[in-house]
Parts: sequence; C-alpha cells; structure tokens
Amino acid sequence: MQRTLVMLKPDAVHRGLAGRILARFEAKGLKIVALKMAMMDRETARRHYARHKGKDFYEPLIRFVTSAPVVFVVLEGKGAVALVRKMMGATFGPEAEPGTIRGDFGVSNRFNLVHGSDSPEAAEKEINLFFRPDELLDWQPVALPWTYDFSTGDVV
Ligand code: RTP
Ligand code: MG
Repeated sequence: MQRTLVMLKPDAVHRGLAGRILARFEAKGLKIVALKMAMMDRETARRHYARHKGKDFYEPLIRFVTSAPVVFVVLEGKGAVALVRKMMGATFGPEAEPGTIRGDFGVSNRFNLVHGSDSPEAAEKEINLFFRPDELLDWQPVALPWTYDFSTGDVV
C-alpha cells in the first residue's frame, strides 16, 4: 500500500471545510495513518515549497500557508498518491472539474484548499517533514477486507 501527505490549507480550516474534505478521503476508502492540526512555520513552508522559490506567487504562498492553522494527514491506500491528486482536481477551483474537491469548494486562483503529494518520492519526503515516525500509527481498519479484494493474493 502507498502513503501520501495531504494538507488541508488555511482556507479549508477557516471556511469550516476541513472535516468535509477529510470525510471524502475516508469515504473513498483511504486509511488515515496520521493526523494533526498545527501552524506551519515559515522555515518549514519554505522547504515544502522550495521548488517555487523565485516565482511571483512564492511569497504570497508562504504567507498564506503560515497565516492560520492547517491540518496534516497521512493517507494510505493502493495508488494513494495519484488517487488523492485526482480527488483534489486541477490546481485552481475555476478550472477544476465539478466532483473534485477544488471543483466543488473553490473559486480562487490562489486559495485552493488542499495539498497532496505529487509523487511517491515527494510523499515520503513530505511525510518525514511534517510527522515524526512515532506519529504514524500502525493499525488495521476492520473494513479493510471489504474495501479491497485480497482473496487472490493481490490487492484488487
Ligand atoms: P499543491 O502543491 O499545493 O498540492 O498544488 P498543485 O500541485 O496543484 O500546484 P503547484 O503547481 O505545486 O503549486 C503549489 C501551490 O502554489 C500556489 N500557486 N499559486 N499563480 C499563482 O498564484 C499560484 N500558482 C500556484 C497554489 O496554492 C498551489 O497549490
Ligand atoms: Mg504541487
């Protein structure tokens, strides 16, 4: 099973959408491995978004993600990285398809509610950036045998 890092951004928290967004991932069948609400400090934000340094939206982005609490979540499931990105939708609400999180809940070309790792390598880095190893909980949902078919030895 694959893990991915999701961050519910300050706009999701301020707009009271954090629970509804998290509920979509839960309902899809993704397992919550870790969860916490925190303020992101500027140094961590700069590391997390280092690849955008120098772009015109970089400073506003750092201010935005450090301006209010965020919710960090580690989710686990088959193909979780791509699945979460698909559920998030295109980067900004006006272009995101209805039925996606950004498509259903956002209208801005800057505030976009949710972050999801864009590759398994990024997921590993981001999980280690925001969580200590002991915060990643080892547990087995009772519904797991009804979430995937394990009967043939594969996860289907
Ligand atoms: P994220 O990293 O947050 O999951 O979003 P993403 O992959 O869909 O988008 P990415 O290109 O990685 O951009 C990271 C975040 O930067 C902000 N952004 N603002 N033109 C702009 O004002 C602009 N472009 C990007 C967004 O918050 C975006 O999610
Ligand atoms: Mg990105």
